[in-house]
Amino acid sequence: DDLQVEWHRDTVDYESLTTAVDLLHNTDVPVAFPTETVYGLGADATRTGAVQGIYTAKQRPSDNPLIVHVCSLKQLRRLLPPSNGGDDYEPIPKIYRALIQRFWPGPLTIILPTTDQSEWRLSPFTTAKLHTFGARMPSSPLALLLLKLCDLPLAAPSANASTRPSPTLAEHVFEDLNGRIQLILDGGPSNVGVESTVVDGLSDGGPVVLRPGGVSVAMLRECEGWENVRVAYKDKAEGDTEENDQAISRSMPRAPGMKYRHYSPRAKVVLFEPGATAPSIPDLKSADSSKGIGIIRTKAWDMDTILRSGSSEDVALWDVDIGPGMEDIARGLFAAFRELDQKQVDTILVEGIDSTDDTLAGAIMNRVRKAAELKIS
Ligand code: TXA
Ligand code: MG
Repeated sequence: DDLQVEWHRDTVDYESLTTAVDLLHNTDVPVAFPTETVYGLGADATRTGAVQGIYTAKQRPSDNPLIVHVCSLKQLRRLLPPSNGGDDYEPIPKIYRALIQRFWPGPLTIILPTTDQSEWRLSPFTTAKLHTFGARMPSSPLALLLLKLCDLPLAAPSANASTRPSPTLAEHVFEDLNGRIQLILDGGPSNVGVESTVVDGLSDGGPVVLRPGGVSVAMLRECEGWENVRVAYKDKAEGDTEENDQAISRSMPRAPGMKYRHYSPRAKVVLFEPGATAPSIPDLKSADSSKGIGIIRTKAWDMDTILRSGSSEDVALWDVDIGPGMEDIARGLFAAFRELDQKQVDTILVEGIDSTDDTLAGAIMNRVRKAAELKIS
């Protein structure tokens, strides 16, 4: 039977939080909640039935490891080996000390080893049977409050239906998951807009970044022990080559769960790398776009010039400007994909931005490159 979402627009009262806690404790129906990166779809990370509920709602196969959310270091320690009596015992590895101090609560996920000695034991469906897990302390006050009140570690992937762009508004979650979940806590727009940066400080060859995100690599490098952090991810579309599939089956370089196409609108995404010539109306007319073309602008493209390049009568154009600030672009990208999907365009042209692996721009372009079917440079 279809579930109806209970959703109080723009307000969260104590009663909705209590309902959320009750659902998390007593059902296998996950709860959508805001974080500063994107909305998450949360379930008790220790309970297999509850974690499977996430996959049922997202309609996604259950072989990706999920990020485990906590509201305090005290909660994190309940997932780690317990004290053997010593007074100054600290189960959180030293390598993460500087990162936690600087970036938590915030858009950073750290990889830790699992243990069967811990007070809280993660379901194998949370970790995809790996011997490690990703942990993150989000900064959204509602997320922290929910974690505190339910007193559980919450496994939470982004609250979109499988393959759709990550949700940065409660409306996006409703669009994808109404009928499949019961409650959305609405905390307004996500402030960062791209997912957390995932780092592993314990890998054999030294610290690595497994996923670029809200904390830039340049910021990580300012922290003790992270000066030489390596980047271990690829920018191409996921699972689109055999080589990539093989890399995943060797689960190398410890970044599993990357084989599905993520972040994609329904329309075909064409990325104009920075410096590529902006499209003209004749170009747009020759594109495969009977229903219309969406344009996501970040800074430089001059729409007047594009429109002056020819008559646009038989091409429907929608133009969304999400720039020029880097943080605005990060906040606006996924929402722009969704807005243009709602116009039912066939093609979305994206104006790429200058980026290096070190910057937030790198994380943004990583998302666009994964969504793009065609790149123009
Ligand atoms: O910003 C975010 O991180 C959002 C919000 C909701 O917190 N969550 C999110 O979760 O993006 P999810 O489940 O979509 O991301 C899981 C990703 C995996 O694809 C993998 O890249 C990494 O986190 N990951 C999780 N556990 C891992 C592990 N044990 N080893 C390596 N990578 C892991
Ligand atoms: Mg996701």
